[in-house]
Amino acid sequence: MGETRLKSKNVATLLLMLLLGRCVVSNNDIKGDEANYLNKLKKAISPVPPSWSSENMCNWSGVSCISSGGTSNVEEIILDSMSLKGQLPPGFNNSLGYLRRLSLINNYFTGPLPSLVGLISLQDVDLRSNNFTSVPHGCFQNLPNLNRLILYNNNNLAPWTLFSANVTDCLALTTLSLGATNLMGSLPDTLGSLTNLQLLELSSNNLTGSLPKSFAQLINLQTLLLNDQEHGGLSGTIEFLSSMTHLSYVNLERNSFQGPIPDLSNWKDLQELMLGGNKLTGEVQPSVMNFSTLWQVSLENNWLQGPMPLFNRTITTNLSLEGNGFCLDHAGPCNHTVTTLLQVAEAFGYPLLLARTWRGNNPCKRWSFINCDSQDKIRTVNLTKLNLTGTISPAFANLTDLRELYLSGNNLKGSIPESLTSLSQLQIMDVSNNNLSGTIPTFSPAITLNTSNNFYLNPGNSPPKASPPPHPSKTTHHYWIKLGSAAGSVVGVLVIFGVIIFICKRHFNLVEKIMLRRERQHGDHYFENLIESYGSLSLKRYTYKEVKNMTNSFKEKLGEGGYGIVYKASLANGQQVAVKILKESKGSVKEFVDEAFIISRTSHVNIVSLLGFCYDKNKKALIYEFIHNDSLDKFACRKDSSSTTHNLDWKTLYQISIGIARGLEYLHRGCNTRILHLDIKPQNILLDEHFRPKIADFGLAKICKKDQSIVSIMGTRGTPGYIAPEIFSRVYGEVSHKSDVYSYGMLILEIIGGRRNYYENVESQASEICFPDWIYKDLEQGNFPTNCLPHREEENDIARKMTLVSLWCIQPNPLNRPSISDVIDMLEGPVDSIPYPPKPDLFSSKRFISQDTNVSSSNRYETNSTTEEIVSKKR
Ligand SMILES: *[C@@H]1O[C@H](CO)[C@@H](O)[C@H](O)[C@H]1NC(C)=O
Ligand SMILES: *[C@@H]1O[C@H](CO)[C@@H](O)[C@H](O)[C@H]1NC(C)=O
Ligand SMILES: *[C@@H]1O[C@H](CO)[C@@H](O)[C@H](O)[C@H]1NC(C)=O
Ligand SMILES: *[C@@H]1O[C@H](CO)[C@@H](O)[C@H](O)[C@H]1NC(C)=O
Ligand SMILES: *[C@@H]1O[C@H](CO)[C@@H](O)[C@H](O)[C@H]1NC(C)=O
Ligand SMILES: *[C@@H]1O[C@H](CO)[C@@H](O)[C@H](O)[C@H]1NC(C)=O
Ligand SMILES: *[C@@H]1O[C@H](CO)[C@@H](O)[C@H](O)[C@H]1NC(C)=O
Ligand SMILES: *[C@@H]1O[C@H](CO)[C@@H](O)[C@H](O)[C@H]1NC(C)=O
Ligand SMILES: *[C@@H]1O[C@H](CO)[C@@H](O)[C@H](O)[C@H]1NC(C)=O
Ligand SMILES: *[C@@H]1O[C@H](CO)[C@@H](O)[C@H](O)[C@H]1NC(C)=O
Repeated sequence: MGETRLKSKNVATLLLMLLLGRCVVSNNDIKGDEANYLNKLKKAISPVPPSWSSENMCNWSGVSCISSGGTSNVEEIILDSMSLKGQLPPGFNNSLGYLRRLSLINNYFTGPLPSLVGLISLQDVDLRSNNFTSVPHGCFQNLPNLNRLILYNNNNLAPWTLFSANVTDCLALTTLSLGATNLMGSLPDTLGSLTNLQLLELSSNNLTGSLPKSFAQLINLQTLLLNDQEHGGLSGTIEFLSSMTHLSYVNLERNSFQGPIPDLSNWKDLQELMLGGNKLTGEVQPSVMNFSTLWQVSLENNWLQGPMPLFNRTITTNLSLEGNGFCLDHAGPCNHTVTTLLQVAEAFGYPLLLARTWRGNNPCKRWSFINCDSQDKIRTVNLTKLNLTGTISPAFANLTDLRELYLSGNNLKGSIPESLTSLSQLQIMDVSNNNLSGTIPTFSPAITLNTSNNFYLNPGNSPPKASPPPHPSKTTHHYWIKLGSAAGSVVGVLVIFGVIIFICKRHFNLVEKIMLRRERQHGDHYFENLIESYGSLSLKRYTYKEVKNMTNSFKEKLGEGGYGIVYKASLANGQQVAVKILKESKGSVKEFVDEAFIISRTSHVNIVSLLGFCYDKNKKALIYEFIHNDSLDKFACRKDSSSTTHNLDWKTLYQISIGIARGLEYLHRGCNTRILHLDIKPQNILLDEHFRPKIADFGLAKICKKDQSIVSIMGTRGTPGYIAPEIFSRVYGEVSHKSDVYSYGMLILEIIGGRRNYYENVESQASEICFPDWIYKDLEQGNFPTNCLPHREEENDIARKMTLVSLWCIQPNPLNRPSISDVIDMLEGPVDSIPYPPKPDLFSSKRFISQDTNVSSSNRYETNSTTEEIVSKKR
């Protein structure tokens, strides 16, 4: 009897359990793989959201379910800005087969991204602003419904490519935002198959190469952001833009795009056109200026030519055009011969080689390949062997004084224009060794004509010996436009807008945000929170005691500079470091740490890395990587010195010059913050074991800022002999990135000239003052500063380039100096394309008053620097 009771009790329990079970099911709880996964997730993350203690997972905050037929499945996981840490457990895609949306914005998730392969319901993935460390191979295969993929701001990802992750298999994508994720390599041809894309954002990565042909198929794009790639970035022409007629926001800044800006007359409502910091050439067409919606334009720091474009300033409120080669510094027509020569350049596709010197309003002033007589009449155009492509422009006929025209040894196509026969003064024309076709027009017999080695060219008045090569058809182009309009889809205006605002506002603004949030906090918590928030960017903070210990009580001094003394030290793990103890200075904790973090994010092969810092009461120190070789001054050649240090050869010096320029360029144009160095000198250039230069001591001008009296400048900013004149006196202009360019020029002159250019001991060594003077004189006489460096014939070009460039850099007027990017272009380009610099007349201010009026002040080397600040945040 007792047994039966027991039994019936068991049955009751069983029933109850069953009932309960049913209850749970009808309560829409989640089961099986999904429940297992969510439980694993709960274990893997911290802090666990409080509501995740609930039995019913559908009640967990951030988890949304969809139920049908008594079962429930996870439809959405949205855990934005919850300070969550941890790794997502493996098996994500095998468990959550019903997922439509995954959003983990702004947390600290680490480890690999979850593999999403085969999640066919997935529409929306937003993992921006996390600390993920890798993108698994093939991670985005088989996602036919994925609309939005946003990984923006995951700086800690190991380098990856679109190809390796099969991103371009997601054909339904309308929004793809992968900025600041260490994306590298070139863009694959398959990218062109994502024809639904409306937003493509790949900014602040390490993309290289030219865009694939198929890129022009992305004709539904409204937002295209490819700006700020490392190491020169994307290249090739931007012809593809002409087919993307729906674009409203375009940012291609700071890449290496070349060629002219294409015709935009078919575009609908352009609002932002940011093309600054490329190598664009040619004239700006009227179609670019005619938009009634265009409010922001940057064309600065390109090689644009011709008339300065005139934008409607009531609409275009933000306009930057400086650093180009426009003929005048205001809108207006160019000199007739300039117009003619630019038509000539246009027919060649506006090659960069011509754009470098073909600027300003007088072709007789240092335009390469053009020779004028004493009355400024163009007599010779010699474009022999320049790899020119394109055609011979009929506009040559407008150079009515032309006597000699050399175009041989290029790759020119098309026919010889009939109009050339009207050149009454022509004596010699050489178009041999090209791919010209058609019939040779009838020239006067007095002209020496060389047309040999043009396979398709027919002698005049005789039948063609071969038919001209077929012209490439343009049908594909039209086909894609049609296809695109057919596929044109409804605009996710809000989405686009949201992302735009987010990109503009948040782009690398982590620092500011955290700063704001922590502003009211003080003391140690301040640092700890800060360091924690930085995640991968984090710097280690050391106490003064630790610093003292690691330097072995400041035993081995490595050097001393304006900002403090540097000691050798080793960390607990044995790593050797250099510790700079900063001199006493005022300034808030926030400023110091802010700056230290900015410096720490500045990582470039040509810049010394910051590893940690110390801020302990009044003691401030910065801990840097230790560079094994000596600083550059130990290698600079010195005729007068009996020192035993060995000299470097020209090739190495050339590589070092380019390296330093690259490092400076990174500081000046770095993607987050513009940093001025203001103390460039050989002692601050360290060389590693491969003689790669690394810039030290940057960013300290800000940390150690004091009031800007000359005394403090001499103490903390700049070193005599390298200081730009504007740092002494504002008569010379504003302190700007051009001040670093000046010091750079002095540094290069010193290492090639082999003489200290210090201005100390003025009385005893008066000749030293004129250091740049005699280099200039040497150059005028065809010599190079060969004081202690013999150079072989084949090094002539290198020596000449370095000399010309450094003389440009030390122009007393900052506006006349090139930007550091121009310096790199000049050093790497052909020596012929470097214009001859004016004599840098430091001690005569005349030049400032009577400036060379023939050279436009919108000249590439004359950017206006008044708006620069010592450290100015970028847009
Ligand atoms: C993913 O990319 C690889 C090449 O990396 C390719 O072989 C494979 O077919 C792609 N997967 C899909 C589903 O297209
Ligand atoms: C960028 O990519 C190149 C290879 O394309 C690599 O050599 C370089 O180290 C990368 N730079 C960074 C900062 O990742
Ligand atoms: C500039 O734009 C304003 C506002 O649309 C318009 O009224 C004005 O006529 C335009 N000016 C020129 C020169 O096109
Ligand atoms: C235009 O350039 C030519 C040089 O080819 C020069 O002779 C002429 O004076 C210039 N005209 C103006 C108005 O600057
Ligand atoms: C034209 O330029 C080429 C290459 O710089 C040079 O070799 C040649 O001598 C020049 N011809 C004349 C006539 O100046
Ligand atoms: C022309 O191209 C060849 C091969 O690409 C290169 O070696 C040469 O330097 C180029 N010449 C000029 C003037 O750019
Ligand atoms: C020469 O210049 C005139 C005036 O600028 C222009 O009308 C004409 O088209 C030009 N000729 C050629 C062949 O470009
Ligand atoms: C970010 O990831 C790195 C590397 O895995 C790790 O060292 C760091 O602690 C992480 N930061 C945070 C805030 O999780
Ligand atoms: C001081 O340095 C020694 C080794 O040089 C190390 O063993 C010790 O842990 C350090 N002490 C502190 C407080 O860092
Ligand atoms: C540079 O700025 C000054 C005033 O700030 C202005 O007068 C001058 O015209 C500008 N020059 C150029 C080339 O923009």
